[in-house]
Amino acid sequence: MPPSIGIVEDPPLGCSGPLWVRGEITIESEDGTHYEKRNRVTLCRCGASSNKPFCNGSHASIKFNDGILK
Ligand code: FES
Repeated sequence: MPPSIGIVEDPPLGCSGPLWVRGEITIESEDGTHYEKRNRVTLCRCGASSNKPFCNGSHASIKFNDGILK
């Protein structure tokens, strides 16, 4: 996939989801940790994932809403 970043919204579930990072973009944490480059990865932006920096689906259970979703 070409390098790009998108925002996931899930209107049927009534919640907002992760950042969708595509195209082997380097992911580096605040402490300098580098993660394996992947073609597709989702990053948590709700703060509830127990597997940060990655999304684990917890945004659905807390009904995360970034304000874009009406
Ligand atoms: S965005 Fe999915 S767990 Fe946070």
